[in-house]
Amino acid sequence: MAATPTVTPTAQALKSHLAQVFAQYPIEVAHGDGVWLHARDGRKILDFYGGHAVAGLGYGHPRWLAALERQARQMAFQTNALPMAIRERAAARLSKFVGLGLDTVFWINSGAEANENALKMAFKVTGRTKAVALEQGWHGRTAAAGAVTWGALEKWYGFPRTPFDVSFTPRDKPEDVDRFIDRDTAAVIVEPVQGLGGAFDVGKPMLQALRQRCDDVGAVLIFDEVQCGMGRTGAPFAANYYGVTPDMITSAKALGNGFPVSALLLSRRIAAQIKYDDMGTTFGGGPMACAVAEAVIDTIESESLLANVRLVSTYIRSNCVIGPVTGTQGAGFLLGLKTSRPAREVQAALLEKNILTGTSGDPYVLRLLPAYILNEGHVDQLRDALAQIPA
Ligand SMILES: Cc1ncc(COP(=O)(O)O)c(C=O)c1O
Repeated sequence: MAATPTVTPTAQALKSHLAQVFAQYPIEVAHGDGVWLHARDGRKILDFYGGHAVAGLGYGHPRWLAALERQARQMAFQTNALPMAIRERAAARLSKFVGLGLDTVFWINSGAEANENALKMAFKVTGRTKAVALEQGWHGRTAAAGAVTWGALEKWYGFPRTPFDVSFTPRDKPEDVDRFIDRDTAAVIVEPVQGLGGAFDVGKPMLQALRQRCDDVGAVLIFDEVQCGMGRTGAPFAANYYGVTPDMITSAKALGNGFPVSALLLSRRIAAQIKYDDMGTTFGGGPMACAVAEAVIDTIESESLLANVRLVSTYIRSNCVIGPVTGTQGAGFLLGLKTSRPAREVQAALLEKNILTGTSGDPYVLRLLPAYILNEGHVDQLRDALAQIPA
């Protein structure tokens, strides 16, 4: 989901044929390269937002473009009922990238769809009736994913009822999890680093407590790594970063670097219980999606981008607590800059200086979701711009 921008729909947007569900930033993007956006009015904007955590490799990466073109020429689409080497190869590559024994992949198209299937499988294999999620967590807009999203029911859910019972546990109280998770709990879903919740690092003690409690009561632990996975923490996945292994991981966004693709990774124990027709899709596992996912992993590995994320993230944390920024939170390139004044105001001031950042559900946290190719020189530009904004 896009963070709420600073500007409400313009008169021009209101004449649009598009459903008016997204407020619009005041820039119209013509093209992009690397970490730069080129606006139609000629402005060149340094992008710390990455199309909402999607453009992990940046815009127009040559390996990504080459994979797309090669696969489009060879076979642009084919149904899952016909075996294709690229589908198998990409699944093997993704499960090897994650490690941790999560070596079965179900390909789908979006983050919400991945979470929807993860939850469904948890209900199927446990035969139970309840889910537990974390306060401030965000998992998508479909019926099940929306049901486990904090605040959705009050704000936008829309369906007359949720498909199952959900309770929300505080995100920073490992001592509370036993109270919420019990033997009726099928699934516990958590973003290890919350995105919309303000680039908030849930942290190892909380994740370990969830893992332990799920083991004790036989519930399935799902890491929603749609935003924080695929290299964003500086490790392949947040599960690797924290050393806590869930039963399922969902991945999307940076997995395709802009081509729609998502994946559900399953442990051997859960995969062993899947039957024909338990899940399905038309476009999921399409050869173009698989080719780009393979190219994204290739590029992250061959260009040592995880090391770059770790290095430049540390540089941001030590240089950008300046001007209105009072501290940092999050991990890797899912960073929250805590602000002394509303983050929206800081975001707007940065945009005037041709730097694009994101806001979050926390009104005093500015969110950075840059491409993994960002360098220290780019961070210097952010630091200098922040220094000119009054605290
Ligand atoms: C953590 C998380 N989960 C799920 C989703 C939903 O993904 P999609 O918009 O691809 O359905 C998002 C989208 O922002 C997300 O940040």
